[in-house]
Amino acid sequence: MLVAELIGILIVALSVVYIYYKYVLFNFWRKKGVFYVEPLVPAGNLTAFVTGKLSVGELFRDAYLKYKHHRAFGMYTFFKPNLVIADLDLIRTVLTKDFGSFHDRGMYCNEKIDPLSGHLFLLPGKKWRNLRVKLTPTFTSGKIKQMFMILKECSEEFAKSLESKAQTKDCIEIKDIFARYSTDIIMSAAFGIKSDCISQPDNEFRYWGKKVFEEKPFWNAILMFAPQVMDFFSIPFNDRGVSNFFTKMFRDNVEYRQTHNVIRHDFMNLLIQLMEKGYVEPDDEKDINNESSTATKLTILEAAAQAYVFFLAGFETSSTTATYCLYELAQNQDLQNKVCKEIDEMLKKHGELNYNAVNDMTYLHKVINETMRKYPPVPVLNRVCTKNIKLPTTNIHVPEGTLITIPVFGLHRDPSIYPDPDKFDPERFNADKVAARHPYAYLPFGEGPRVCIGTRFGYIQTKVGLISLLSKFKFTLHPQTPVPLSFEEAPIVLTAKGGINLTIELR
Ligand code: HEM
Repeated sequence: MLVAELIGILIVALSVVYIYYKYVLFNFWRKKGVFYVEPLVPAGNLTAFVTGKLSVGELFRDAYLKYKHHRAFGMYTFFKPNLVIADLDLIRTVLTKDFGSFHDRGMYCNEKIDPLSGHLFLLPGKKWRNLRVKLTPTFTSGKIKQMFMILKECSEEFAKSLESKAQTKDCIEIKDIFARYSTDIIMSAAFGIKSDCISQPDNEFRYWGKKVFEEKPFWNAILMFAPQVMDFFSIPFNDRGVSNFFTKMFRDNVEYRQTHNVIRHDFMNLLIQLMEKGYVEPDDEKDINNESSTATKLTILEAAAQAYVFFLAGFETSSTTATYCLYELAQNQDLQNKVCKEIDEMLKKHGELNYNAVNDMTYLHKVINETMRKYPPVPVLNRVCTKNIKLPTTNIHVPEGTLITIPVFGLHRDPSIYPDPDKFDPERFNADKVAARHPYAYLPFGEGPRVCIGTRFGYIQTKVGLISLLSKFKFTLHPQTPVPLSFEEAPIVLTAKGGINLTIELR
């Protein structure tokens, strides 16, 4: 009897939830007269992502290619209305022109229960703005130049570690190899630690690095689109083990440097300046302004969260870019030869690998841009409406709290913007072709005041890794590697399924 009653109550409760979803929550776009994609209870239009059938980038790419003629259209991410912006002028409105109405990402950020989530990528409002101002001088070309030695050392070790494999024309899984290289670089640059992932593939740094990007499609979807659920239940997003590991490492390091007076040209040093003085010493002393002298200082946890985001944002994005780049060059030997020729010429001209030599490699720059066009590591951009607005040139009134998605992967594979979009063609980035395109048609680093703060470092890290390999080795496709690739469904970063196997040999 009791069981029958419980089943009855459950059926009634589920029916109420279903009706509430269908006729109240999912009525949002219909009421506003905005075209929308028909949702399903309970995940809205995210069912394919949550159930692990499609990656988030592919899901929004498909919707964009089907409905882009609406310029902007409604979707539902779980129970929340989400406006997908398809038109390039409207994208500019959201990211830049009307930034005041869209300054936050609307993703999970809860400093109380998850201090490492209090970083630049996730922080909203004033806290974000103050921190962005403080961190911007960390990424000037002067500062990146000072870090060049760290990059060079790691890349030399990286190339050396592959020599024996090249001599025997072995097959290597390039994604894991680049992930280890990028972990070493970012550990060294962000934490001042030699993590040795190149020589010890299974050490603790690699373990925790992998743990951060562990596949958890449901939680990733909640983090991005319904963080209120986690706030409500006080659930931290970061794994406790990951948090403890990174926080302890940061604290120990700060203590060591402060007691031993160690100064090293890396992000860690700049974060210590932010803790001790409240500002980063400018490249030129006379650039210190009066505001800097009264600046508020970062607490150790706030600084640790920034080091953590440099790690998160810096390692996976750059290593996937380098991986896809070699995958394309392995299929297009004529393009690989052209890049190698430029690398040889520039190394000869500058006498060694240095910052200026890298910046002189203009063809390599186009090759990397085309790689991120075809495979944008961050396949969607997220914002949330922070102030009611009528979207200019449309009849759409966007209320505060509406989520916004910009389908970058869709734009980058749109044949009306990039003819024959699956073709890898670096010439698309010749100056005249770039000038002829809408400036918001290419968004691998986002745009506007919340554009990637690490763009320069991301480019240089990816380039130095590629140069160190391409100056010595030749890469060809291994029969195990599929063409075209398919993508892992769970990660937010666009990741190739099953890794990428290439044959490596001496040039
Ligand atoms: C190829 C490498 C990289 C790619 C493709 C990339 C891409 C992106 C994208 C798409 C965004 C969001 C921008 C927006 O919403 O408009 C972003 C933000 C960010 N990135 Fe990167 N990134 C890369 C490397 C790096 C590196 C090396 C660092 C740090 C060392 C970094 C730190 C950040 C931070 C802190 C933000 C948040 C900025 C803010 O909200 O103010 N990124 N990145």
